[in-house]
Amino acid sequence: MDKTIDQIYEEALNELAAADIETVTDLSVRYLGRKGIITQFLRNISKLPKEIRPEAGKRANQVKSDLEKKFREAVEQVESKTSGPVDGIDVSLPGRPARPGILHPITQITLEICDIFSRLGFDIAEGPEVETDYYNFEALNIPKNHPARDMQDTFYISDNIVLRTHTSPTQPRVMQKQSPPVRIIAPGKVYRCDSDITHTPMFNQVEGLLVDENVSFGDLKGVLTIFIHQMFDAETSLRFRPSFFPFTEPSAEVDMKCVICRGEGCRVCSHTGWLEILGAGMVHPAVFENVGYDIKKYSGFAFGMGVERIAMLKYKIDDTRKFFENDIRFLRQF
Ligand code: DAH
Repeated sequence: MDKTIDQIYEEALNELAAADIETVTDLSVRYLGRKGIITQFLRNISKLPKEIRPEAGKRANQVKSDLEKKFREAVEQVESKTSGPVDGIDVSLPGRPARPGILHPITQITLEICDIFSRLGFDIAEGPEVETDYYNFEALNIPKNHPARDMQDTFYISDNIVLRTHTSPTQPRVMQKQSPPVRIIAPGKVYRCDSDITHTPMFNQVEGLLVDENVSFGDLKGVLTIFIHQMFDAETSLRFRPSFFPFTEPSAEVDMKCVICRGEGCRVCSHTGWLEILGAGMVHPAVFENVGYDIKKYSGFAFGMGVERIAMLKYKIDDTRKFFENDIRFLRQF
């Protein structure tokens, strides 16, 4: 051992005085670590002459605990400095939490619609968005060249394949696989070649179908009234207007009392007090025949609604395109 413990002590104090934030921890290890200078010194005490051994051992232990204390204080000081403000940034503040995502308002409304009908005993069904001409039209009593095809501006993929123009093709698809009773709703995207403030080329619909013995138009009115009361409020009255759809007979368009003016008449309801929200009717016998159902035994009703339309009325939004622009400031409000 070439240095006395007091020389080592003095050097350690000098180095500690000169140390900065980056070097203080290393310095502590160099003196007090497992292979540190002080540790080595203590280990080598047995090699010293017998007479000075006890004194040197005592002094070395004093130095060790003194340095341990001084280094600990120095390290603590450094730590408190680095966790305080650094260049005007307080690094001890908790980070900004990442906002959890939310479901798109259209998805939320679709789920709410499904939830209401599930509680009424309807199952959820799904069909393909790329559909055959047969299911989109023919099975629904809309033959080729029939003028009713003009009601919908169809995107054709090829002569016999289309992007479905409505969710109604899920009706024959479900009925082909299942015999009555049938009670389903089918949410999904549909496509039409149309675009302005009230139309987008893709939008969402929910289809409904109920088939059983002795189903009447009164059942249709009851189910739709319960649905609208749950979706909006129990004061909302409904109006059924005679209409035409090839796959239902009789057919109706269903209006509800305007949610904005409560029937007084305003811009949203074009001063009529009513808003159209659904197409519906009793399933046409030709549709039942196409899927092999016994028309003497069974009857049923069907309906179809636009999800964007329901969402606009529920959230009082006047431009359907807002749902598709994905402006985060708009979406975060739901
Ligand atoms: N499929 C029709 C449309 O998109 C809506 C509709 C009307 C669906 C009457 C039905 C119905 O199931 O019975 O315009």
